[in-house]
Amino acid sequence: MRPITLLTLPFAAAVAGALVPFKGCQHKVKESIHGPPRGWYKDVPASKHHMLELKIALPQPKFPELEQHLWEISDPSHARYGAHLSKQETEALMAPHPETLDVVSEWLASHGLVEEDVIRSSANDWVTIRVPVGLAEEMLDTTYHVYKHTQTGESIVRTTSYSLPEILHEHVDLIQPTTMFARFKAFKSTLRWTNQVQPAVSSPSVRTITGPAGNQVDASCNNTVTISCLRQLYNAVDYSTSATNGNKLGITGYLEEYANNMDLQQFYQLQNPSAQGSNYTFVSIKGGKNNQSDAGMEANIDTQFGFGLTWPTPGTFYSTGGEPPFDPDLLTTSDTNEPYSYDTLPQSISTSYGDDEQSVPHSYATRVCDGMAALGARGVSVMFSSGDGGVGDGDAYPAQAFGHQCYSNDGRKTPMFLPVFPASCPYVTAVGGTVNIPETAANFSGGGFSNYFPRPSYQDAAVSAYLASLAPGTYKGLYNSTGRAYPDVSSQAVNFAFIYQGQTASGAGTSCAAPAFTAFVSMLNDARINAKKSALGFLNPFLYSAGYAALNDITEGRNPGCQTEGFNLYD
Ligand SMILES: *[C@@H]1O[C@H](CO)[C@@H](O)[C@H](O)[C@H]1NC(C)=O
Ligand SMILES: *[C@@H]1O[C@H](CO)[C@@H](O)[C@H](O)[C@H]1NC(C)=O
Ligand SMILES: *[C@@H]1O[C@H](CO)[C@@H](O)[C@H](O)[C@H]1NC(C)=O
Ligand SMILES: *[C@@H]1O[C@H](CO)[C@@H](O)[C@H](O)[C@H]1NC(C)=O
Ligand SMILES: *[C@@H]1O[C@H](CO)[C@@H](O)[C@H](O)[C@H]1NC(C)=O
Repeated sequence: MRPITLLTLPFAAAVAGALVPFKGCQHKVKESIHGPPRGWYKDVPASKHHMLELKIALPQPKFPELEQHLWEISDPSHARYGAHLSKQETEALMAPHPETLDVVSEWLASHGLVEEDVIRSSANDWVTIRVPVGLAEEMLDTTYHVYKHTQTGESIVRTTSYSLPEILHEHVDLIQPTTMFARFKAFKSTLRWTNQVQPAVSSPSVRTITGPAGNQVDASCNNTVTISCLRQLYNAVDYSTSATNGNKLGITGYLEEYANNMDLQQFYQLQNPSAQGSNYTFVSIKGGKNNQSDAGMEANIDTQFGFGLTWPTPGTFYSTGGEPPFDPDLLTTSDTNEPYSYDTLPQSISTSYGDDEQSVPHSYATRVCDGMAALGARGVSVMFSSGDGGVGDGDAYPAQAFGHQCYSNDGRKTPMFLPVFPASCPYVTAVGGTVNIPETAANFSGGGFSNYFPRPSYQDAAVSAYLASLAPGTYKGLYNSTGRAYPDVSSQAVNFAFIYQGQTASGAGTSCAAPAFTAFVSMLNDARINAKKSALGFLNPFLYSAGYAALNDITEGRNPGCQTEGFNLYD
């Protein structure tokens, strides 16, 4: 990396009216991948007229300062615990260097793109331009192709390498879509129809079994999980939330997964009759739609359990038109027609989508993960489901053999477990799945160690102790013992009774666990707000230092995958 002072020369030239000499400047490869990830093959060259929405991430030189704030305000033993930053304060710490803005604008101008062609995020850290493939190829000195997915037939326009003038390298973190092939599937692993209609509320005559805290739980909860079951299991039977104290719950939706309102009302009628007739706020991001003729299983589970558990807490469903993962920047953009104020975010947000970490370019994963830190700094608890493939790949669940797909995609085909992103990001709370009462790990529950993100200090003690308990040599080489370990928590994830297309269905997956856990975080936030305390914000430093004492330790079960038995406590 060149020191920033050397750049004052072209910068001075630029403001004096002379163009930074991009045209003559040597292009250098900015990012390249070995080839498309498993499942994709290269088809024809892309049409030069195909329009691309290129997103350019500009470096955030003050990120270390943002992160320092995050650690302090999320650490319950720190004097600043709960002193969350405002939108303005956070954005000031996400902003690029002014020179970067100038150099990048000059580069865009050298390709005929003026300020009116540019959309900027409110922190100015992302620049979006709409350009034809022909121009993008010139700017990035690359060739775009159509890539097709072998199973789904889906086509995308991508490249495996792109270049930038050398002078730009330190002013641009990444440009996508280029090398990004991740598909970010929904983590719902099974669905079946059931005819069982569950009682909405527990009655004293119902047979009970003993729950995790010695409390009595309806025996039916061992086979069918309802809102009532979750409130019994996790000790919130008598807790009532407020509609008006400012607490809010956010659920994100992607991939044309729409939450169906009629299904939601039918679910309320069965499982939480007092919520009937209530509604949530719908926020469309990047053209996200709300097609009521096209119910999504994932969106239905998420909204029914998330909003159903927390009613009357106001809920927001974010329908995102583009690709996941949940891009925190989208919640803070000002260039939107929404009347909704982005100055106040929901205190708890659940997302049930993800993909193999290795299919997400490292630069992109880092940038999205840093965005999660920014949300944490603002006091938002961000939950992601941990994936449905155990230590392997969610694609393989439930029936196919796990083994043959567990390889690195860097061309070396090194056998390895497949961590899932964004669960592997150290700034999110990753939620795994359990089954039955007493709870044991659900055998699909995603978990393991990141290859991108080092182990954060908040989990040092817990993870070192766990690693020390493994028999020497266990899974040697298959997982990264220095990486961030996940999931952080788990909740029930099997036999969820929900409504889909007017019928009772049963769903399973960490997709069920994330909104369920998030709903309880939201209830805790509700209580804290009523007590004039700050919201919990980024949870992990609290969870690993003190919060775990309020949780049940799940010690049974394992998460098989990659032709192994997966991890268990004390192998
Ligand atoms: C609930 O909100 C959605 C999204 O704003 C809207 O489409 C729907 O009509 C509303 N339903 C009711 C029952 O008010
Ligand atoms: C809504 O979904 C239905 C069913 O999939 C589809 O036929 C219809 O075209 C969609 N409408 C819009 C506006 O996308
Ligand atoms: C719950 O179901 C599981 C699996 O069928 C069973 O092993 C367990 O004993 C049941 N729990 C109780 C408390 O009956
Ligand atoms: C997980 O458990 C289910 C239900 O008991 C079983 O059908 C399935 O084969 C198990 N999957 C693996 C990978 O062990
Ligand atoms: C293991 O994780 C660290 C970061 O925690 C990373 O630097 C390293 O490259 C990873 N190793 C492999 C083989 O992925």
